[in-house]
Amino acid sequence: MVQNRFIIFGGTGDLTYRKLLPAFYNLFISQKLTKQDEILIIGRRDWTKTDYVRKMEPWVKEFARFKVEEDKFLEFIQQIQYLKMNLSALDDYSILKDYVTKSKAQVHVCYMAVSPQFFDPIVEGIHQIDLFNVRLVMEKPFGTDLLSATKLQRKVTRYFDEENIYRIDHYLGKDMVRNILTIRCENPIFDAVWNNRYIDHVNIFALEQVGVENRGSYYDKAGALRDMAQNHLLQLLSIIAVDNPHDLHTLSLQQSVVLHSLKLLEDSMIMGQYRGYLDEKDIDSKSQTETFARFSVGVETSRFQGVPFHIITGKEMMYRDTAIQIVFKSPYSGQKPNILTIQVQPKEGVEISFNIKTPGKSDEISEATMDFCQNCQMQNRINTPEAYEWMLMSIMLEDGSWFSHWDQIVTSWKFMDELIQKKPKPILYEKKSLGPEGGLTAEIVECIEKPFIC
Ligand code: BG6
Repeated sequence: MVQNRFIIFGGTGDLTYRKLLPAFYNLFISQKLTKQDEILIIGRRDWTKTDYVRKMEPWVKEFARFKVEEDKFLEFIQQIQYLKMNLSALDDYSILKDYVTKSKAQVHVCYMAVSPQFFDPIVEGIHQIDLFNVRLVMEKPFGTDLLSATKLQRKVTRYFDEENIYRIDHYLGKDMVRNILTIRCENPIFDAVWNNRYIDHVNIFALEQVGVENRGSYYDKAGALRDMAQNHLLQLLSIIAVDNPHDLHTLSLQQSVVLHSLKLLEDSMIMGQYRGYLDEKDIDSKSQTETFARFSVGVETSRFQGVPFHIITGKEMMYRDTAIQIVFKSPYSGQKPNILTIQVQPKEGVEISFNIKTPGKSDEISEATMDFCQNCQMQNRINTPEAYEWMLMSIMLEDGSWFSHWDQIVTSWKFMDELIQKKPKPILYEKKSLGPEGGLTAEIVECIEKPFIC
């Protein structure tokens, strides 16, 4: 009998090829995915398993962190099956029913690697065929605003218990994101100053060099605020601002308290759109969708009252970099602030900059930096699991702690719905630039350009 059967709805989509299959391969090599587990690809195309394997192979080769050896790959594909069905046609779910009746499994992980418009028929279809022991995995975006998210939640919880729903925010699977609480809570030197008495402001940025690629029809309706800020960046913000959590199970509730306390700072929004966006596939020729967004929020809790958090994200930028900078207050003007930087990607690590007496000079102060480079020490990241590996492992272990909980979805949408109402028109910016004027401060650019010491 199959142990975990991963049923991948949207098996021929970008997410499956680029992220899920390489992650499954990594799990297979590190023996977290055993021979008893199965990956059942659901696709509409009239393909055989051999056709599918031929299609997926180059993606696994390119994106898996372990080198793909021929013999290992042949073993890996033993665990893959391909089932042709139309996931929007309820009648077609009898094909899945026949399959799971003939070949039984203990757990069915139904993974919705599809755009949100397909969530409804999949949920109905799975329910209709009475699939048992289901863990339902939903990719973001969970709704496009609070109203649609609430409708979706009602639908899903009509058939599935909350503890069997895993809403993926893959940023919560990034190794350095999971490290944030350890860095801030397990070190008295940071824990003691993690408040508005010492912190001046916080920068949270996620910059990408890629554009919308082939996701135009989704992205043009979403834009950077819905695509990156409502989920990934508000998750980062709330992990930085949350009171020290008692344990991971209460973390999500405590994060909601933070999200509930957010106040948009006036005149802080800058939206941008890269030149050439309108010529991309499936984009409305008059689109005002933002591909760059910057805004600042206050966190109205006793810990962080008065500390602005600057949130920045953009596509087609000069740099690819995701990081969090905690900028401390300077005791007197002109003194360089101490900055703690948590580098999430592509650099993974921690930097701290502080003031020293310039060597050989008695009255001059200069800045020094100490750092820990996680991916330099980890043989080019081969030992650091990818975000999706963490997420898939957690699902197998029935550990829902690093997933988005419903209360967080509600509070983040409430905040984002209001913000989106007020967003200004996007300013054009050149591809591979710093985004629109005022988007990236010198402090951020300096942080991105500073290499790790090692
Ligand atoms: C996804 C967004 O959630 O995150 C994409 O939909 C974005 O638009 C991606 O490119 C970024 O993920 P990562 O892991 O490359 O930072």
